[in-house]
Amino acid sequence: MVDPSIRALIEEWDGLAVLLRHDAAAGAWIFIALHDDTLGMMMGGCRVNVYPRPEEGLLDALRLARGMTHKWAAVDFPFGGGKSVVALSRPVEGEERTGLLKRYAHVLGLVDGRYATGPDLGTTPEDMDLIRSVTPNVMGGPAWIDGYDGDPGPFTALGVYSGMRAALRHVFGDDGVEDRRVLIQGLGDVGLPLARYLAADGAKLVVTDVDDGKLGRVAEELGAEVVEPDGIYDVECDVYAPCAVGATLNAESIPRLRCRVVAGSANNQLATEEDGERIHQRGILYTPDFVINGGGAVAFGLMYGGERDFDAIRERMRGIGDSVTAILEEAQERGEAPSRTALRRAERVLAAAGARRA
Ligand code: PHE
Repeated sequence: MVDPSIRALIEEWDGLAVLLRHDAAAGAWIFIALHDDTLGMMMGGCRVNVYPRPEEGLLDALRLARGMTHKWAAVDFPFGGGKSVVALSRPVEGEERTGLLKRYAHVLGLVDGRYATGPDLGTTPEDMDLIRSVTPNVMGGPAWIDGYDGDPGPFTALGVYSGMRAALRHVFGDDGVEDRRVLIQGLGDVGLPLARYLAADGAKLVVTDVDDGKLGRVAEELGAEVVEPDGIYDVECDVYAPCAVGATLNAESIPRLRCRVVAGSANNQLATEEDGERIHQRGILYTPDFVINGGGAVAFGLMYGGERDFDAIRERMRGIGDSVTAILEEAQERGEAPSRTALRRAERVLAAAGARRA
């Protein structure tokens, strides 16, 4: 990143508003990026992560909030896009972390009724219960809904799996994963359940994670091959599934990729919109992130609306495969990058809702 200031980042952003606070006690910055409320109340998770500089945390919040707007629009759900980032300067744990999350929740309470958060990278369902002890503007957590652990990850993973199969069908004419080589980057809340679905259906897995211990355990459990995090872009495979941080598809990594399909759960996989064109030029099918990874969001939206039939919710995750197919077919007809098609479709939904509201 070319060292932009907080001011430059906000001036360049197309969203609604940003709430920010410096938390001196924990050496952290709290950013709540409210991107767009055209479709309804803004809703998007809370990420807690260490960033070399707070500007990078803000940039993440701004991009993730925009991604949430598109994610909701892609499924035409009545929610708007927002996202929170608690940007740490160093690891924060135990009671210090509890205090920080409570202070984050206090700030979150200021946007009462207009924005709600949920789990994301670096936060757990249990953290959501802690946040709920301060403000009601939160979804997820074991205390949210009786008989549900409050974790969106397995739903997101089901949606990604359905979208991955749709992409395989588009490329190979067959959506079976048996003996397909799938590279999973990140065995977190989504990557791990996704790996389990794939392994159960006979895929050949190659896995990586920044946590060596977890990597070893999962590789053994699933009989997966292991690669070091830096080596992943050179792995020959059918599908590359980014399930960790964003911006892994960039000018440096795209020329190295040796896969046919990219289909994973990470938010903001493309470093820039141009990278969507770049990967298309390379003849690799990119499954737009905000379409394929919408499962957790859709599940939460349905539960927020009162749905308690979890089989019905799981069934809805198959719809993600249908959305992926529709986008890939339209992209093919137009001869354009699927990232472009997905963006246009989302923007069309937003424009129609904006016109109705005006
Ligand atoms: N953080 C996940 C996502 O980006 C799940 C989530 C969705 C959490 C919506 C809160 C709200 O999709």
